[in-house]
Amino acid sequence: MRTTSATGKNGRSGLAGVTRGRLLFGGDYNPEQWPEETWHEDVRLMKEACVNSVTLGVFSWSRLEPRPGERDFGWLDRLMDLMHGNGIGVVLATPTASPPPWMGRLHPDTLPRDRDGRTEWWGGRQHFSHSSATYRRYAAALTEDLAARYGGHPALTMWHINNEYCTYDWGDEAAVTFRRWLRDRYGTLDALNTAWGTAFWSQGYGDWQEVLPPRRAHHLNNPTQVLDFKRYTSDLLLECYAVERDIVRRYSPDVPVTTNFMPMWAGQDAWRWAREEDVVSVDLYPDPRDPFGAQEGALVQDMTRSQARGPWMLMEQAAGAVNWRDVNRPKPRGLNRLWSLQAVARGADAVCYFQWRQSRQGAEKFHSGMVGHAGERGRTHQEVRRLGAELARIGPAVAGRHSACEVAVLHEWNAWWAGTQDGRPSREVDPAQLVRAWHRALWEAHLTTDFAHPEHDLSGYRLVVVPQLYLLTDAAADNLVAYVRGGGTLVCGFLTGIADEDDRVRPGGMDARLRDLFGIRVLHEWWPLDAGEHIGCDGFRGTLWSEEIEAGDAVAHARYRGGELDGLPAVLRRGRAWYVSTLPEPAALRELLADVAAGAGVRPVLDGLPAQVEAVRRGDLLFVLNHGRDPVGVALPGTYRDLLGDRTVTGRLELPRHGAAVLAP
Ligand code: GAL
Repeated sequence: MRTTSATGKNGRSGLAGVTRGRLLFGGDYNPEQWPEETWHEDVRLMKEACVNSVTLGVFSWSRLEPRPGERDFGWLDRLMDLMHGNGIGVVLATPTASPPPWMGRLHPDTLPRDRDGRTEWWGGRQHFSHSSATYRRYAAALTEDLAARYGGHPALTMWHINNEYCTYDWGDEAAVTFRRWLRDRYGTLDALNTAWGTAFWSQGYGDWQEVLPPRRAHHLNNPTQVLDFKRYTSDLLLECYAVERDIVRRYSPDVPVTTNFMPMWAGQDAWRWAREEDVVSVDLYPDPRDPFGAQEGALVQDMTRSQARGPWMLMEQAAGAVNWRDVNRPKPRGLNRLWSLQAVARGADAVCYFQWRQSRQGAEKFHSGMVGHAGERGRTHQEVRRLGAELARIGPAVAGRHSACEVAVLHEWNAWWAGTQDGRPSREVDPAQLVRAWHRALWEAHLTTDFAHPEHDLSGYRLVVVPQLYLLTDAAADNLVAYVRGGGTLVCGFLTGIADEDDRVRPGGMDARLRDLFGIRVLHEWWPLDAGEHIGCDGFRGTLWSEEIEAGDAVAHARYRGGELDGLPAVLRRGRAWYVSTLPEPAALRELLADVAAGAGVRPVLDGLPAQVEAVRRGDLLFVLNHGRDPVGVALPGTYRDLLGDRTVTGRLELPRHGAAVLAP
């Protein structure tokens, strides 16, 4: 993959300037819940657990500004000094994700409305409208004071803006900012009417005041209006982020800035956002009970590394159980370590948690912490300590190293948004699930993948796969064609290149450039399948979708068998361009992609890996991770030094259940 130098944009250091050859280890620290004696106890435990980074202030607004305009910084001064005195760096958050109750009471305009016009009240969190001028004014003022006070503090290592930006607003002030955003995009109402196709269903707009966020309608909102609302929401939140980022940069130009993404979150166009950050960070909570939990982790890690174009920060994970699923199981012994090392294998230079000490009150008192209710003797904390010591040991050998991938999966937010509209051919088709299915096939084939935007330069990859990109810009379609012309191998799933940027169906029902590329003469009809339904194909079964295609100069690699589509091509190939018109069952998709990858010269990291074992290269280090419940032996092509076990291994590596090795040549 492409990499960035240690010094990021505008001379700021990025993550490398913070890690300085170590891995960061720590987490969200919410000490305002505890008496000050506990802070000293915390510091002792942190040092014993090799914690070198804490995130302070994420939800501290009502403590910092108890009444409008007042400031209470004394407690934070003491904490910053305490951390510095003990060699622990501080990622300082702007607390703007959860305004104090006084704000909603005095300024109801700061509260967002849902699409039914209902208010989101205080009493939880994230009850702010991205469009509210009042909210923005208060947020900027507090950010300014925080930055002025702590921008030069020696404990400060990074700024963390807000937390998991994820709010929507359909209210009146949002209607104003939506119109402003639309004017910027389209210039005139005529252009908006054209883009939205308002000639249909009598929706033509004659005055900007008529244009609204897509509020509850009797039947099916205009799809391009909905698409633009999602683009606008991502952009408005980004505006809020950028305002705070620019303030803190004025006071501390060398301190990198981040905001934490949610994993596979539809609300923020992460490609766009990542460009605005000095450090890309993500929160990651796979379900310990999910048999594909490790793959879900790998997917998010691959995506984050690709957005960061280098090392990234795991801002939050759980040491044990979360409290927001229906049933919340802790991580079994060894799993926290294994999944943390997986993140490091896939490029993380920081392994952090929500949160340091488990709360005794509030909405997350049953969410695990690095120090749980069982205290320092609890298993979870004991495992955290061991992990901290291990990360400290391997850090200098690992931090800053890059991973090279030969395969890229394409994923893009506009396509995701447009591909989940109401009124589409099948509600069973979910772009995010398709990304998961295709990534899983590659993961199970032991092929490490990057993610890429369809307009990125793809020429460095031997293989590019497209699970589904329903909406494709002209530039992206040209890019795919150029990639194949330039010698790349492309495998593309169904419902790709159907619509243009305005969600207007392309003539012929699919982009003509792609039809030519794959050798499709006519795409007659789509034949979506029911949940659980299968369609026979040569050598495998398809699910979810099938298509009535007339091939041109393509070769039918597999045909449909039986039913309406009997004998028609299911998987087409024209040179190095492959088109897959159904979702093959998992084993078949895995085999197909592994074969095509082999043909493109892409090999797994190690040959003959057992199914539950993941092997990933980072620099010249080889991470080998046993996700299985049983011990396993892995054949190695030579002699290595295992940095975790401090042992030499030759020819064969034995790993216990959930065991891991970090092998140096
Ligand atoms: C994250 C959030 C944290 C905490 C955590 C619990 O979404 O940023 O504050 O709520 O989830 O899993």
